Amino acid sequence: MKILVIGAHGMLGRDLVGQLSIIFNSKVSCPKVIAATHGHVDITHGSNTSAFIARIKPDVIVNCTAFTNVDACETHISEAFAVNATGAKNIALAGKETGAKIIHISTDYVFDGTKNEPYSETDQPNPLSVYGKSKLEGELAIQEITNNYVIIRTAWLYGPHRRNFVTTMLELGRKNCSVSVVTDQQGCPTYTADLSYAIWTIISSGLQGLYHVTNDGTCSRYEWARKIFELTGDQVAVLPVKTSDYKRAANVPQNSSLNCTKYTSASGHKMRPWQDALEEYMKIL
Ligand SMILES: NC(=O)c1ccc[n+]([C@@H]2O[C@H](COP(=O)([O-])OP(=O)(O)OC[C@H]3O[C@@H](n4cnc5c(N)ncnc54)[C@H](OP(=O)(O)O)[C@@H]3O)[C@@H](O)[C@H]2O)c1
Repeated sequence: MKILVIGAHGMLGRDLVGQLSIIFNSKVSCPKVIAATHGHVDITHGSNTSAFIARIKPDVIVNCTAFTNVDACETHISEAFAVNATGAKNIALAGKETGAKIIHISTDYVFDGTKNEPYSETDQPNPLSVYGKSKLEGELAIQEITNNYVIIRTAWLYGPHRRNFVTTMLELGRKNCSVSVVTDQQGCPTYTADLSYAIWTIISSGLQGLYHVTNDGTCSRYEWARKIFELTGDQVAVLPVKTSDYKRAANVPQNSSLNCTKYTSASGHKMRPWQDALEEYMKIL
């Protein structure tokens, strides 16, 4: 089996390539993993993408690319749609031509956040931001082009390969001894290493369709920050604030927690609690 990871220099992409090599290390016959960066393929160009994929002939393509700066998407609308929507479509078209299965990573920000409990796959998306709208358009394009896909909606990612909420909190805490964090955004912090394992579980068990996959449990960003400083033992005051206290370009959902029951029952694998994953990640910082 040949697995092509596109977006292999991103936070998730790099961890996925690394985690797959750890998983396959002990196996005699294992899949071949090909890591493609933006330098290898620009997914906004249809012909470039299809020629690249035709040359590699992968069995599975994992699309970890995105224009992920949620606020910048509001002012770079055409670039956001080019990567998140047209790019996803180009990969799906090329995958269909060569018979590859598409594993596409999407987001909790396709929801408007008004639900009082975690969102299931059957809930209606209603994105508030350009980022969410462009990611939803990518999902719909894939579903229109092929049946041979898995769309994984995940959330609040952090991991060793990019600055993220955890590292930002640690930097701010060291500088200022206090951090102000919103209490009215609820979600599911998710460790890229754990998501990578779930992606392999999905590939190896042959699942198809739409799945929500995050670490288990939900919290507010405020509770997440509190947990970070509880784990470091640093005396940093976490000050509760509201989203409305901050001016930012994009509207983000108040509750974007995802219900992952469908993934757990279909795969037989339950993601560990977000607190345990965070603790493990913080040991390598
Ligand atoms: N981060 C989160 O909290 C979060 C939450 C929910 C869902 N997700 C989803 O999870 C996935 C991975 O996110 P991430 O945070 O790992 O992203 P990331 O670190 O921003 O990485 C995205 C990668 O996409 C590449 N890329 C951008 N435009 C491209 C293009 N036109 N052609 C080829 N490659 C291109 C980037 O390369 P360059 O940097 O070289 O341009 C970068 O390596 C994305 O689908 C994202 O929507 C993320």
